[in-house]
Amino acid sequence: MAILEIVKEPAEVLRKKARPVTKINASVRKLLDDMTETMYAAPGVGLAAPQVGVSKRIIVVDPQDGSGQLYQLINPEIVKAEGWVEGTEGCLSIPGMVGDVWRYEKVQVVALDRTGKKVWIDAEGWLARIFQHEIDHLDGILYTDKCSNLRPVPQGEEEAEEMQAAQAEAGAGDAAGEVAGVGEAPAAAGAEPGEAKDGTGRGRATLASAKEE
Ligand code: NI
Repeated sequence: MAILEIVKEPAEVLRKKARPVTKINASVRKLLDDMTETMYAAPGVGLAAPQVGVSKRIIVVDPQDGSGQLYQLINPEIVKAEGWVEGTEGCLSIPGMVGDVWRYEKVQVVALDRTGKKVWIDAEGWLARIFQHEIDHLDGILYTDKCSNLRPVPQGEEEAEEMQAAQAEAGAGDAAGEVAGVGEAPAAAGAEPGEAKDGTGRGRATLASAKEE
C-alpha cells in the first residue's frame, strides 16, 4: 500500500465527472487500498478517487464512529433518500475551511464492492452525510458549491480533515461551538451532525423538494 498525494482545489480533476469502473481488477483493488491508507493517514473519514488525481467512480469511507466499518465502494449511487438536515463539513482538498451543508438525513447507496459484488448500504446521519459528500466528488461537486457560512477552521483546529471529522477535537472544547455539530455526531451512533446544534425539528423538508437540488 502507498500513501497518495491528495490534490487540492483548484485542481481540474476535482471538477470532472468521474468515469464508471468497467472492470474490477488488481489495479482497482490496489487503488482502493492506497486510498484507504491515504484516508487514514490524512486523517479523514472519506476519500474519493478524484482527490488522488484518478477520475474514476471509487470512494472509501470510514465514519470512525466506533462501528469499525470500512467501505470501499465502486460506482456508488444514491438510490433512495429521505429527510433533510444541516451540518458542518470540511474537505481534504480544501484545507483549513469548513462550511454548513444541507444533506439528506438518510440515504441508500448501491455500489460494487472490491470483489464486484453488488452491495446495498442504508446510512443515516453522519455516515449518510459522508457518502453524499464523497459521491458529490465523483460528479465534480465540492461542498463549497452548496454550503453556507464558509469559514476558516477555528484557531487551534487547523488540521482540517475530510468532513472535518472533528471527533478528535470534540473534547477540545471547540471554541464557540463552531464545529460542535459535527464534533458531537460520532459520539452517539445515529446522531445527526446537525442535530446537536440545530435541534431535531429544524429544517425538515420532503424528499420531493429536496430532490430539486
Ligand atoms: Ni471532500
